[in-house]
Amino acid sequence: MSQPQTKGVDLGALGNAGMQSGLQETRKFPPPASISKSAHVKSMAEYDRLYKESIENPDKFWGERAGELHWFKKWDRVLEWNLPDAKWFVGGKTNLSYNCIDRQVQAGLGDKVAIVWEGEPYDAAKPVASELVRLTYNDLLREVSKFANVLKSLGVKKGEVVTLYMPMIPELAIAMLACARIGAPHSIIFGGFSASAIKDRVEDAKSKIIVTADGGYRRGKVVPLKAAVDEALTSTDVVKTVVVYDRVKGVGGFKFAMKAGRDHLWSDLMAKASDKCPAEPMDSEDLLFILYTSGSTGKPKGIMHTTGGYMVYTYLTSRYVFDLHGEDPAEMHWCTADIGWVTGHSYIVYGVLPNRVATLMFEGAPNQPANDRFWDIIQRHKVTKFYTAPTAIRAFMKWGEQEPKKHDLSSLKILGSVGEPINPEAWMWYHEHIGGKRCPIVDTWWQTETGGHMITPLPGATTTVPGSCTRPFFGIDVSIVNKDGQELPANAGGFLVIKKPWPSILRGILGDRERFLKTYWSEIKGCYFAGDGARRDLDGNFWVMGRVDDVINVSGHRLGTMEVESALVSHPSVAEAAVVGMPHEIKGTGIAAFVTLKTGKAPTEELKKELTNHVGHEIGAIAKPDQIRFTEALPKTRSGKIMRRLLRELASGQEVKGDTTTLEDFSILAKLRDTDEA
Ligand code: WT7
Repeated sequence: MSQPQTKGVDLGALGNAGMQSGLQETRKFPPPASISKSAHVKSMAEYDRLYKESIENPDKFWGERAGELHWFKKWDRVLEWNLPDAKWFVGGKTNLSYNCIDRQVQAGLGDKVAIVWEGEPYDAAKPVASELVRLTYNDLLREVSKFANVLKSLGVKKGEVVTLYMPMIPELAIAMLACARIGAPHSIIFGGFSASAIKDRVEDAKSKIIVTADGGYRRGKVVPLKAAVDEALTSTDVVKTVVVYDRVKGVGGFKFAMKAGRDHLWSDLMAKASDKCPAEPMDSEDLLFILYTSGSTGKPKGIMHTTGGYMVYTYLTSRYVFDLHGEDPAEMHWCTADIGWVTGHSYIVYGVLPNRVATLMFEGAPNQPANDRFWDIIQRHKVTKFYTAPTAIRAFMKWGEQEPKKHDLSSLKILGSVGEPINPEAWMWYHEHIGGKRCPIVDTWWQTETGGHMITPLPGATTTVPGSCTRPFFGIDVSIVNKDGQELPANAGGFLVIKKPWPSILRGILGDRERFLKTYWSEIKGCYFAGDGARRDLDGNFWVMGRVDDVINVSGHRLGTMEVESALVSHPSVAEAAVVGMPHEIKGTGIAAFVTLKTGKAPTEELKKELTNHVGHEIGAIAKPDQIRFTEALPKTRSGKIMRRLLRELASGQEVKGDTTTLEDFSILAKLRDTDEA
């Protein structure tokens, strides 16, 4: 990097006025009696009792819940806690693939539908069988066992990282469950990331094998995934084997290359594989997966999750937060996230299947072929639980209420929100136009690092308030503190920390103990530091205001400002770059980049486009700046720190000038504000 970075956290970064003023939302929505009646947690009194038990006696609480799942060998101790290292269900042996599949087959539920998948090209008026797939637990057992044997035949051993770079097709779920079955941790890379993101991740994880597809569909176009893998592998030689699922199968003349000796077709390998592969008994603390996520500094970090604790926690949060009932044949769970993000890991696959309910996977975009695609899916598949992000809800609002009105959404029972704070307007629209004013909304606050929901309503118990994620889940001891770690009074904004370990807490950052300690355990002594600002209101409800570090949340996706800066300065015309978040109507936070150019480079409209595409190529389309502004110099304090708060104000307050040749002059501003962020 060519510039010093603002280090650390900045509560003042939070633009949200509600935080400082302590304004409270007055609209309150008690849990509907129809939900409470049959819910796993039926009242606030029951929540309070269980919460108290979970905090005071975690061994009893978690031991009982873990006992609902299958273990090859029971654990010796529920928890071993040596700050900051937690071990859960110590000495236990289990397998998450077994608990997702075999346990249901063993119970005689083999014919029950496990996964319903709809491809983007699917058209109900002209249905093509291959675009709508239903896999029963029996089917899943067969396919997962076969692919597990494929991995073994390619030499994959227990503990070896398998990279998955795939579209949202059933084979992605099959591949991850196959990895879990043989104890090979997976590293899933979201299909929207670029070739250089693949290269960074396979090198960091020393992953010798990638499973991909020729392509996937997004808004009617083919995303060429195999081509991105090929490009990535020109600059690294850690990967020796590539498995390619031919999803697009040459439709419209689409072509992809195969490299002899390295590349194999999924179908060829599966044709030869046996469909028997017993699940490997895994130690509770064996690595289940790594998932890369952005931080304040450096490249994305590989968050590590292990087997037992993650399994129990995602099982229980799925069960209680979405109130899943495996005995109800009508249950149809739909989480619209991509499996490439933690939301998809936990609430499409790993937490849902052990609850014996059907999980729906949709490959495409919400506006393909038209703006009512989601509502059409809900009607046709009679979705009961629907989980999406505020950014999507704001897009739906923009598209208009006539879109959901075209469809019968009466199957819906519970709605969920995740990824960023939900603004009360979006909450109300969701409540009215999707939930028909009868479905509780669970606004779930959590992170890649937490593995599962941390602060969330329980639909049968909690009175919800638009914009608040309400109460901590069982076992989660949350506190709002100042920078000295002192607990703050109601309505005061501060840092959100967690004081006790929970089963799915991250176990570390792959290969970087230092960074693990520094990021999560050094800001506030003795506590897990989440990186978010929040307050608790007089009713005890939590309001998360957003990140307090140099991480921005774009459409519910996490990006490090420094990552985008690095991508920009890797362009030959760029001297320096500073990236900040700015309010964005749909995305929540958009990306604003302030760029200084190398001598002799002209600040043209053309170059802006080129830089935008360059960032897309370096990271992925989600990281493309919404605004690029050329400047002579970046505003810095005397000690050389970029004045980010100033840039944030500028990015959010001022219209971009049409005249691109006008350079912003920060020299005066910088002098005026010199002491501001020093
Ligand atoms: C960050 C974590 C957890 C899955 C998706 C994102 C923000 C997440 C909420 C919410 C307010 C939220 C936080 C958090 N966030 N959910 N319900 N209300 N903020 O996972 O990419 O690890 O990002 O997303 O800022 O720290 P992630």
